[in-house]
Amino acid sequence: MSKLPPDSLPPISPLPTPFFEDVRRGIQFYLGDSLEILDAMAAPHPHGLVDAIFADPPYFLSNNGVTCQNGRMVSVNKAAWDRSRGAEDNHAFNMEWLRRCQRVLKPNGTIWVTGTHHVIFSVGFAMQQLGYKILNVITWEKPNPPPNLSCRYFTHSTEQVLWAAKSTKSRHTFHYALMKELNGGRQMKSVWPILAPGREEKQHGKHPTQKPLALVERCLSASTNEVDLVLDPFLGSGTTAAACAKLRRRCLGLEAERAHLETAARRLPPPQLPLDDARKPARLVKRR
Ligand SMILES: C[S@@+](CC[C@H](N)C(=O)[O-])C[C@H]1O[C@@H](n2cnc3c(N)ncnc32)[C@H](O)[C@@H]1O
Repeated sequence: MSKLPPDSLPPISPLPTPFFEDVRRGIQFYLGDSLEILDAMAAPHPHGLVDAIFADPPYFLSNNGVTCQNGRMVSVNKAAWDRSRGAEDNHAFNMEWLRRCQRVLKPNGTIWVTGTHHVIFSVGFAMQQLGYKILNVITWEKPNPPPNLSCRYFTHSTEQVLWAAKSTKSRHTFHYALMKELNGGRQMKSVWPILAPGREEKQHGKHPTQKPLALVERCLSASTNEVDLVLDPFLGSGTTAAACAKLRRRCLGLEAERAHLETAARRLPPPQLPLDDARKPARLVKRR
């Protein structure tokens, strides 16, 4: 399939005022539809704006199935945004946000995208169609998955994380030595056993599909440097922003639901040292 022409993008509206801003650490959250905000961000930055992207998009798995939580049978339904629109429409959506992410990535930037089988094949195919270069397929292994109640399938205990560069010409950042050190002196493999987020990570508010901080931290430690600018187009409860604050990366987070952005703001640890290039005084500004 051929690439979509660049002029097929809709008209670009101006960037809205941030919903939340931590000037000292270079963190901004925007409330609204990511596609529109990404268009506005891309317009003044034709050569790219961000060094890396961590994206945890809708998985399209809220389709009335059941799962087990704390020993009880519960619905898998997360929220309206997670309902499947059918394979073709789901893929069209993935093309749209991935195309916009590619526009805002700097030439050597990379993107991480999480997913289960409901979405990950479409994401991978969309990346191939758009000319991204897939670098790794990480398997996030959950050591304590919920049991499979139907007993007709293996217990679902993994999610995939695709890591891709903006294009085949990109010279991507990979902190090989750091990853090796984290793995006890052996090369880090692409299967990562990491526990699902515990109570402590949910103390500031619950999100139905919150990712473990350790997962996002490892992705960003491997692929970015201090002060780099990281974008999360589906911020949810702000795991990416929390990881950025911890690792001294700057962060732009986009999210459609106000309550999730409020949780994300509460999750940021108290300000510590300012980032080297943050010139303005330390100040937390909550808008709207
Ligand atoms: C899978 S969750 C992300 C969870 C996040 N990684 C965390 O750890 O909390 C996806 C998020 O994307 C948001 N979302 C879905 N569609 C969106 C859109 N078009 N624009 C902005 N946000 C959207 C949902 O409200 C949801 O919070």
